[in-house]
Amino acid sequence: MDAQTVIAWEQAYVLGVYKRPSVVFVRGEGVWLYDSDGNAYLDLVAGIAVNALGYGDPEIPRRMAEQAQRLIHVSNLYHTEPHVRLAKLLCDHSFADKVFFCNSGAEANEAAIKFARKYARVRHGEGKTIVVAFEGAFHGRTMGALAVTPRPHYQDPFRPLMPDVRIVPFNDPTAARSAITEDVCAVIVEPIQGEGGIRPATPEFLRALREATAAVDALLIFDEVQCGLGRTGRLWAHEWYNVTPDLMTVAKPLAAGLPMGATLMSQKVAEVMAPGDHATTFGGGAVVSAVAEYVVSRLADTELLAHVRERGRQLLHGLRQLELPHVVDIRGQGLMVGVEFDRDVSPLVQRALDYGLVLVNAGPNVMRMVPPLIISQEEVAEALQRFQSLVEETFS
Ligand SMILES: Cc1ncc(COP(=O)(O)O)c(C=O)c1O
Repeated sequence: MDAQTVIAWEQAYVLGVYKRPSVVFVRGEGVWLYDSDGNAYLDLVAGIAVNALGYGDPEIPRRMAEQAQRLIHVSNLYHTEPHVRLAKLLCDHSFADKVFFCNSGAEANEAAIKFARKYARVRHGEGKTIVVAFEGAFHGRTMGALAVTPRPHYQDPFRPLMPDVRIVPFNDPTAARSAITEDVCAVIVEPIQGEGGIRPATPEFLRALREATAAVDALLIFDEVQCGLGRTGRLWAHEWYNVTPDLMTVAKPLAAGLPMGATLMSQKVAEVMAPGDHATTFGGGAVVSAVAEYVVSRLADTELLAHVRERGRQLLHGLRQLELPHVVDIRGQGLMVGVEFDRDVSPLVQRALDYGLVLVNAGPNVMRMVPPLIISQEEVAEALQRFQSLVEETFS
């Protein structure tokens, strides 16, 4: 099929909730994507922080094929080996004692909110139902996750939302402390906000959330869907803060681009959940689990994490040295970097492809860089050069 036909069929048959540029990607290799005309693009989006291991890692299709030939699906009615292996691996590498598997980041957050509601009800009875979330947060588009994603454009067409949500300014420990009252069952926060503009929480803020939730026995949920699994140069972003949550949600890179999410939790949360309380048909399926076991073991590797920290420093430092016009801030951790401009960055996103770059924004004024974690020193240097030309020629 040629690119024009793909685009025409998209317009004819696919629900128009996505705005896509007129390029059709057909293959990837390392950190490079190739379109249907054979043009190469350096990918700083990585499928929105999904393709941590880049494109073409032969172990991924090998594990998929091996498991698919044996068994693809039997449902969660029955025991299978791949998902218990993955659950143990995740627990061995985190604070968690138990894992619930699902199919996306939004679903992982739905589960976390439900588990927190049940925990509060079992431990404290009725009336402890408030979920605290923060301005600029993004937790997903399903009804529960949407209610804690306070953006009018996302929420308003779909009201009424899930009730009992309290939205508080991000990085304001005083406001958070006064919002976390006895009727709060959970606080949900991204240690580094992704869609909200690559905004790291301050250590004081996360510490305040931990103390205030502990004081009223509310559960602290870290949404590490975007910032977790090696993205920041540690396996979990919250390791930079020395603050441990009660629940953590992960997804994006977990199964190398196959749909998978997970809600990790401590024993005290797990204890309140019983058979039948929550479930999903596909969660923790054999094929995605077999792939995720490989991904997690790669991303937990200390050498890979050191590489992410090193390349992240190169990227941040390099961006600062470029002294680009109209930049107001450059921030991030590891290979999760945001460049904030004093204006709308959509012209940069649109023109990036002309410079052989795949780039996406995070909010109206922030360019986001979340490349595959395997990006080399030369490729970071190349990305910086191309980004410089893009910005200077677009914003001069
Ligand atoms: C921090 C965070 N949480 C949740 C989600 C929702 O994940 P999904 O799109 O897999 O439902 C996203 C997606 O961008 C995210 O960045």
